[in-house]
Amino acid sequence: MKTITQKSELKSIIEDLKSQNKTVGLVPTMGALHDGHLSLVSRALQENDVVVVSIFVNPTQFNNPEDLEKYPRTLNIDLELLATVSDTILVYTPSAEDVYDNNVVSEHFDFDGLEHQMEGKFRPGHFDGVGTIVKRLFEIVTPDRAYFGEKDFQQLAIIRSLVKNHNIPVAIVGCEILREPSGLAMSSRNVRLKPEYAEAAPFIYETLKTAKSQFGTKSAIEITQWVENEFEAHPLLKLEYFTIADADTLETARNINTQTTYRAFIAVFADDIRLIDNIALN
Ligand code: PAF
Repeated sequence: MKTITQKSELKSIIEDLKSQNKTVGLVPTMGALHDGHLSLVSRALQENDVVVVSIFVNPTQFNNPEDLEKYPRTLNIDLELLATVSDTILVYTPSAEDVYDNNVVSEHFDFDGLEHQMEGKFRPGHFDGVGTIVKRLFEIVTPDRAYFGEKDFQQLAIIRSLVKNHNIPVAIVGCEILREPSGLAMSSRNVRLKPEYAEAAPFIYETLKTAKSQFGTKSAIEITQWVENEFEAHPLLKLEYFTIADADTLETARNINTQTTYRAFIAVFADDIRLIDNIALN
């Protein structure tokens, strides 16, 4: 396994690989790797000749400075974990200066309106930061395929829009959410949960599953009201939003239409840790 900190070095390795007609898969991460990330890496290894994993806590996508400061950074453990998957991975661990060319600011994007829904309402500037770093990584790595988890379903939709609007020649591969045995969606933030919150957090997925079971018999408004009441009554978890939305436009569903695919999306605070999850409804 090779760790690279300079984009100039990475670019020249990739150029050499491409000249040999090798395909390149990219798994962008912010580190604090868990089995969800490793499953993306395994899939990328199956589908490409070479896999690049980037590990970079991207400052421009954090709207809350405290969240950025507290984001877990576990580079040595991450490298050990990646080495258990394959010793051929190229790991790109840049500084902000390297990846941003000394200009650590976001570009502004139009993501076809997707950026105004859900996370976009609560995390101003977040998706501009995600778009900026992912576009930069695509320019540096020029991957044939790039892998993203469906836990960040809105991010995945936004990256598909980025690629389409900027004609970036990369196939975006969305991968299913991996869950702890308790049902809690795997997330780098889970390691920061205090024991009582870690014990409470599986309630999020339990609630999503019950909401799914109600879909088809109750209206979107009734289900949303039910979820809001469940969290009102919860002693530890604070609901930020629950939305039933069109899985393509991410607009909140008013009336259910049998031709449309819907998903339920949720964001919850467990103490100061913000957790998100989602589930397919039909
Ligand atoms: O999902 C993440 O970990 C990040 O948003 C990403 C895609 C690596 C960009 O920093």
